[in-house]
Amino acid sequence: MEKIILTGDRPTGRLHLGHYVGSLKRRVELQNSGLFDKIYVMIADAQALTDNADNPEKVRQNVIEVALDYLSVGLDPDKTTIFIQSQVPELTELAFYYMNLVTVSRVQRNPTVKTEIKMRNFEQSIPVGFFCYPVSQASDITAFKATTVPVGEDQAPMIELTREIVDRFNSIYGPTLVKPEILLPDNAACLRLPGTDGKAKMSKSLGNCIYLSDTPKAVAKGVKGMYTDPLHLNIDDPGHLEGNCPFIYLDAFCRDEHFSRYLPAYANLQELKDHYVRGGVGDGTVKKLLISILEEELAPLRERRARYEKDIPGVYDILRRGCEEARAAAARTLDEVRAAMKINYFDDPALIREQAEKYAAAHK
Ligand code: TRP
Repeated sequence: MEKIILTGDRPTGRLHLGHYVGSLKRRVELQNSGLFDKIYVMIADAQALTDNADNPEKVRQNVIEVALDYLSVGLDPDKTTIFIQSQVPELTELAFYYMNLVTVSRVQRNPTVKTEIKMRNFEQSIPVGFFCYPVSQASDITAFKATTVPVGEDQAPMIELTREIVDRFNSIYGPTLVKPEILLPDNAACLRLPGTDGKAKMSKSLGNCIYLSDTPKAVAKGVKGMYTDPLHLNIDDPGHLEGNCPFIYLDAFCRDEHFSRYLPAYANLQELKDHYVRGGVGDGTVKKLLISILEEELAPLRERRARYEKDIPGVYDILRRGCEEARAAAARTLDEVRAAMKINYFDDPALIREQAEKYAAAHK
């Protein structure tokens, strides 16, 4: 069986370091691993509209932002099909059929949906489209016969639901759909990067993000403002590592070789941590190290982004070609789905013959 990846993001804002360590970096590794026959990365604008119906302009603006972020991290349009969800209408049709295979209570139990409903104050009135987005996500995945869905842990309930839909579809209509596996980030530090304020997650509305498209100055500002250890007032005070943002970021980004370049007094992160905990290391030293490491990481991204920013029509062409390719693939699956469900009336000579014979017999 072919190995196929599908994943994506909602275009509701520029992508940040949380996206980078949580998913983007891994996607590029997977792309370059040569282990996959096809890789699809989707800009989920239709899903973004399920809770932004009144603000389509926000979604529209961010489609290109997310595309630039993808290209800047090194997703290569020659190896990865980047496309826009709404331009593949086959996905909507699939979702309509899948909705019949899922109960309301099943979606209501989805912990990610529950959290989002609370966050958006949807408790009183949930848009039907928003409520159904987990089902539409099952179409996104199955339309491309994806075997592998690399996503963060918050997406696990969606993949679980997709697997249930595949089982139900295949058992009712015969084996048609491919059951996908989730691929979680492999490093504990990558599972979740907190916001610069120490809050659980980077979020645009909290203003605690460092964006991939930030200037060096903005990155430095973000790091300098990071939440550290409120008990570590003087350099010689013992420090605490739990919830200490610069250290959590270092866990995600720092390698031993960085120390010889930027902080040769230590051989590795553990030594720096030990000294910090004993007392004697200032937060400024830790932050300065982090800034250097982030700059090293982000410089190549900025360079690529600048190149693509000079040719925005070219970026739209990349997306257009991606959409055409994605659409062709989804249409093939939709044909199979319609055939399995026997709603391919005009492609089914047996059906027409059978009905003709039935009526011919009645008229004898
Ligand atoms: N729900 C994902 C997010 O919030 C975006 C998404 C839509 C997605 N369809 C998908 C991810 C299919 C993986 C597979 O970012």
